[in-house]
Amino acid sequence: MKALVLAGGKGTRLRPLTYTSAKQLVPVANKPVLYYGLEALRDAGITSVAIIVGDTGAEVRDAVGDGSRFGIEVTYIQQEAPLGLAHCVLIARDFLAGDPFVMYLGDNFLVGGIADLVDAFRQADHDAQILLTKVAEPQFYGVAELGPDGEILRLEEKPEHPRSDLAIVGVYTFSPAIHEAVRSITPSARGELEITDAIKWLIDHGYSVHSHFVSGYWKDTGRLQDMLECNRIVLETITADIRGVVDGRSEITGNVVIDPGASVANSVIRGPAVIGADARISDSYIGPYTSIGESCVLQDAEVEYAIVLPNSTIRGVSRLTYSLIGRNVEVTRADAVPNTYQLMVGDHSRVQVKA
Ligand code: G1P
Repeated sequence: MKALVLAGGKGTRLRPLTYTSAKQLVPVANKPVLYYGLEALRDAGITSVAIIVGDTGAEVRDAVGDGSRFGIEVTYIQQEAPLGLAHCVLIARDFLAGDPFVMYLGDNFLVGGIADLVDAFRQADHDAQILLTKVAEPQFYGVAELGPDGEILRLEEKPEHPRSDLAIVGVYTFSPAIHEAVRSITPSARGELEITDAIKWLIDHGYSVHSHFVSGYWKDTGRLQDMLECNRIVLETITADIRGVVDGRSEITGNVVIDPGASVANSVIRGPAVIGADARISDSYIGPYTSIGESCVLQDAEVEYAIVLPNSTIRGVSRLTYSLIGRNVEVTRADAVPNTYQLMVGDHSRVQVKA
């Protein structure tokens, strides 16, 4: 069995971070979302993986390399434009050959892995297997309507009036029958070849499509609140591991990971939280559910429920919460009068000041 991992797309809802980086590389507990997916594939015994990349292909290649670090072998396939998930299957035809495969959307975050799902697919003789979960806002997803015996009655992509609250999760398993389906469908109203339409085509042409419910936590990490929630969920599972230097005036409580080379001086850290390698924390407070990236500097700062990417500085600011801060960002206090906010923020940034 092979895998097709989708890491293209524009990530518009996470701008401006996605102007300079792939949305799949935004870190959760200091590890890119995409890595969790690659590890889940490896843990399910799948080592032959193609990653579909778009405009941000260079960063994805730099980050993942040949895959050996994850125990997998990675091939890259460039998608010229975001023409849809089913289009990705079309352009991966040669790589996939006649093999069954898992299709994994690189921005999907699934706790608990996919080994059970892959085993179930290997044992049954289905042409496609989809994963479903209940969501609050089904209109933003592919939606399935099931019959009394759990059979799939209808699938719709982002319907205006959803017939159920069952969203299609971005992890699918397919037999080679999907190739005919993706060749047979036409682009949707948003101009994309939808995988939901291809699966619908399989059902309409008598192929067997089976659905499973996700047992654990799942999130499509497209938005700020989703990233912060995934970060919280992962941080809840960490165990304390202090390999950096903490001075005697600091207080560390709860599960806190401090990577080698990091230093903490005269500060309070309440876990769960992770502090990346070579970060320097002084005279600061770091509250629960916070991930501070590598080589960040926090001085006289308070940060809680936030993700800070590598090489950023927060100085003299309290208290930042519910925040996602990119790479090489500076958030500092303007000490001189007048007492003003002084901003230089990228396009599509969002700044919320205290009321
Ligand atoms: C895609 C699929 C949708 C699915 C979702 C899961 O949506 O088209 O059916 O529910 O992934 O993440 P997209 O992320 O392309 O909007």
